[in-house]
Amino acid sequence: MGWSVANCRDPRVRQQLMGERVFGLRWMARARIDVVNDISTDRIPVRVERVAVIATDICRFDLRRIDGEPLPNWRAGAHIDVHIAPGLVRQYSLCGDANGSECYSIAVKREESSRGGSAALHANIRAGADLEISRPRNLFPLEVGGKERVLLVAAGIGITPIITMARELARSGRRFALLYFVRNRDACAFREEISSPPLRESAEILHENTPERVRAILEARLNGSVGYDRIYTCGPGGFMSCVREVAVGSGIKEDFVRSESFGAIARKEEAPSKAFHLRLARAGVDLCVPEGSTAVDVLRAAGISIETSCEQGVCGTCVTKVLEGVPDHRDSFLTDAEKRRNDCIALCVSRACSEKLVIDL
Ligand code: FES
Repeated sequence: MGWSVANCRDPRVRQQLMGERVFGLRWMARARIDVVNDISTDRIPVRVERVAVIATDICRFDLRRIDGEPLPNWRAGAHIDVHIAPGLVRQYSLCGDANGSECYSIAVKREESSRGGSAALHANIRAGADLEISRPRNLFPLEVGGKERVLLVAAGIGITPIITMARELARSGRRFALLYFVRNRDACAFREEISSPPLRESAEILHENTPERVRAILEARLNGSVGYDRIYTCGPGGFMSCVREVAVGSGIKEDFVRSESFGAIARKEEAPSKAFHLRLARAGVDLCVPEGSTAVDVLRAAGISIETSCEQGVCGTCVTKVLEGVPDHRDSFLTDAEKRRNDCIALCVSRACSEKLVIDL
């Protein structure tokens, strides 16, 4: 679509993005305290029951537990980690029916810029293949109060968490609208479902792919006669920035525009990774993180489990409070302002500028 992640024109929207990320960070930090020491090894062996092409370059993989037991329950917006091969873990939104516990479905688009995840799934994983997955986690939960009206806005493969929200809203009889921007008819995933009852009444598939046209459509909708209270959006970064700008400009409360990012990550150019000293304040443990290893590697090697998900500095799951020292931030989760405060660190990728870091573990 030609969206640029840095293409956010409205400073209020940047501020909002920062606010949401801080909220997410706090939420996850609380969650992490509950699960530390038990989650990273919590994998579920599954078998690929079926692989179906559902749009150009998009396959749906249906997964069932190998032991025949039911899978954990989940709600709209949840994702799972998929262990595709040793050392190759990727996160995918669950896109099947949240009411069924027999089978999970994920839809994966083969990305040209794939770092191995989508390309490996498309090339190597067929029906009958065995994989391991995590329990579902939900960093993008659907929260709707009272008579609030919800607008769901998806672009491309960003439809995967959004379709589960549409189903849940339709099932509960809530008022909502779904706008799905997609290049053309062949690239449209879930086309039949979206074009049939009960979603048809609330959904619109738009074959528009320029930022100007998308902005114009959103402005017309959000400044039109129907008022929306909350927006959930998923798609490329520049697309979501556009949705935020238009939504906030139309008067929707900043906290009520929620988004989930996906796709390839622009990695910060690797600086030399010198060794540093890591002190765990609560555990009273001192460790050395050598050149070439991450803090997460060293913590695990020392028998200290820490929850992670992307292990690429994107999701914020491993972010931990810094009590002393200066981190060398290499993640793309924390905002610039958060990085300047130097009071937290994404342990999966970031390092230290100071010789020692004291963290709240
Ligand atoms: S595990 Fe995702 S940011 Fe560290």
